[in-house]
Amino acid sequence: MRIGYIQMNPIFGAVKENLAHVKLLMEGAQAELWVLPELFSTGYQFRTGEEAAGLAEPIPNGPTVRSLLEIAGQRGCWIVAGLVEIGPDGRLYNAAVLVGPDGIVTRYRKAHLFYKEKLWFATGNEPFPVVDAGPARVGMMLCFDHLFPEAARTLALAGADVIAHPANLVIPEYGQLTMRVRAIENGVFTVTANRIGTENRDSETLRFTGESQIVSPTGEVIAKAPRDQEEVQVVEVDPAKARDKSLNQYNDRFTDRRPELYRI
Ligand code: ACM
Repeated sequence: MRIGYIQMNPIFGAVKENLAHVKLLMEGAQAELWVLPELFSTGYQFRTGEEAAGLAEPIPNGPTVRSLLEIAGQRGCWIVAGLVEIGPDGRLYNAAVLVGPDGIVTRYRKAHLFYKEKLWFATGNEPFPVVDAGPARVGMMLCFDHLFPEAARTLALAGADVIAHPANLVIPEYGQLTMRVRAIENGVFTVTANRIGTENRDSETLRFTGESQIVSPTGEVIAKAPRDQEEVQVVEVDPAKARDKSLNQYNDRFTDRRPELYRI
């Protein structure tokens, strides 16, 4: 299975342009599963809740998901991507969707909000999803969820072979390092699609750290983007490699767990 990331520099508020840019970037490569950054169609640094609401869209009937569905249908692929969702009750969520050639497959609402996201977004309260996407079982989490090992563990225990991780990481090296550990401890592939560039729409400048990566179940970084350039990368993987959790003839990542001793 060919899986890939798109590392890009979204233009704040320019949904149409960002969608057109992603379409163009994808034309240079073929993959069955693509992962795009968190909030890739809007940018990240909102000034107010009203501004975030003005860029929010319902799922699936908004411009971002419609455009992703069109691309997935035309290219016969699956796409995981982050966007601002407005729910039926008017609440805003930092969300991700997984769309496929036959329509929308599932949605995820970020469970661990980072920094000022807490000012605009409601906290996601739904389970971490794992769904079939072609030959792989794909789980989703968003950016700062990386710091909470329970998120990736939950996805792995639910059967994820690949963890799709749209991101807008700002702390250098944290997410890239933790996701390597998440891959090793859970024996899964991880695909972190991060963004690059800066936003300074506020009193502070946010610098996004790039270095999108794909990690194998043994922790090998099999693709890695630069810190400050857009990049499209696709690698061939066998998702079934994530189904054997053994380390040697005596140890297995899952059956050796001692949940009765864990106080969480
Ligand atoms: C983040 O969760 N965007 C750091």
